[in-house]
Amino acid sequence: MRFRVLPGFRDFYPEQLAVRRGIEAAWHRASRAAGFQEIDGPVLESLDLLTAKSGGEIVSQLYAFDDKGGRAVSLRPEMTPTLARMVAARAGGLPKPIKWYCVPEFYRYEKPQRGRLRAFHQWNADVIGSSEPAADAEAIAVALDALRMLGLGGDDLRVRISDRRVLSRVLEELEVPGDVEAEAIALVDRLERDPAARGRLEERLGSARCGALLEHCASYPLERGPELQAVLEAGGEFGIGGLLEPDFRIVRGLAYYTGPVWEIFDRRGELRAVAGGGRYDELIGSLGGPELPALGFGMGDVVLAELLQERGLLPDAPARVEAYVIPIGAELAGAARAVVARLRAAGVSAEAPYGAVRLGKALRQASAAGARRAILIGPDEWAERSVRVRDLASGEERVVELERLD
Ligand code: HAM
Repeated sequence: MRFRVLPGFRDFYPEQLAVRRGIEAAWHRASRAAGFQEIDGPVLESLDLLTAKSGGEIVSQLYAFDDKGGRAVSLRPEMTPTLARMVAARAGGLPKPIKWYCVPEFYRYEKPQRGRLRAFHQWNADVIGSSEPAADAEAIAVALDALRMLGLGGDDLRVRISDRRVLSRVLEELEVPGDVEAEAIALVDRLERDPAARGRLEERLGSARCGALLEHCASYPLERGPELQAVLEAGGEFGIGGLLEPDFRIVRGLAYYTGPVWEIFDRRGELRAVAGGGRYDELIGSLGGPELPALGFGMGDVVLAELLQERGLLPDAPARVEAYVIPIGAELAGAARAVVARLRAAGVSAEAPYGAVRLGKALRQASAAGARRAILIGPDEWAERSVRVRDLASGEERVVELERLD
């Protein structure tokens, strides 16, 4: 019987993990550069927490089950409810604004397809305790910073942004009945992805109202969104103004958003959103914590890796070792191991072949390991407590006393 990885899950062999680690390194760097502190939470949460306020698709995709104690639990599909719970538990004692980030793995029972898997890694950065539009703008800027560190800039990306309040105000002006509002919002969210959404919207709102609503997709009613204008302005100050595009169709599927919402897309429009986020001012209060405004975003590794691959920007695997130590003759194998130990103690990554290996083969192994230098242990040099250090790029060699080797 041969076992296979489950659909939508991935094995990370060294090459794949190197890509993920390269992406994660940019996420960590961008977070820290903007003063975010790293957190994590449990992979399993109570089902009630995860279903309380997220709503929509995500709740139907939960890996939920009863544990052996009879508790209804689920693997986490996102971080925001956990983060809200963590903030609620300690809110009083935490200086505001709180700026937290994390890089966890999430689980959603989705149909595996391009850009969508059942287990994926997602960077979150959230700001809690500020209602300032500058905080929304900073979150977007931080997301873009990480992408810039990976080689993606303004030519590759655009940020489509809206504000839930603008959509609500428009629906109110159009006198859309309260019981239809939630469905109308969900349908605007699906306009691009679901060809049936437009017809359904027309059915629910009537053609005149639907037409008036759809007009805003062509020309954003910014005059109804002073809060969004303030975010755009602050975005300009953060140097990302050119990438921000007000777009009425950006709603976001999660129910807890209350203000600006945004998604980052590749400019060619071939892939799903690389990242998405928004303001959720009522979530922490509604989960039993104090009323604290909050906002943040999630950026997944799957779409991002696809985009990087398309642009030839996938992070390289780091060298396995820096120095490869080669004994010239089997009797010097022990000496090579002693040199390896010495280098490692000095903080240099190093290895030697386990058994007797001919020089040519050992040098090929050194290159395959990505080593910058080979350290050759020959009988003559070793007799004088020296080694030969060969630069593997230039081929240059010099004799170095063992005591000075580092
Ligand atoms: P989300 O839009 O569900 O938001 O996910 C954000 C990003 O995670 C997506 O743009 C995508 O890159 C990635 N992603 C989502 N689902 C999958 C999947 N099945 N496979 C691969 N990648 C996926 C949230 O999760 C919010 N909690 C983000 C947030 C944080 N909002 C405020 N703070």
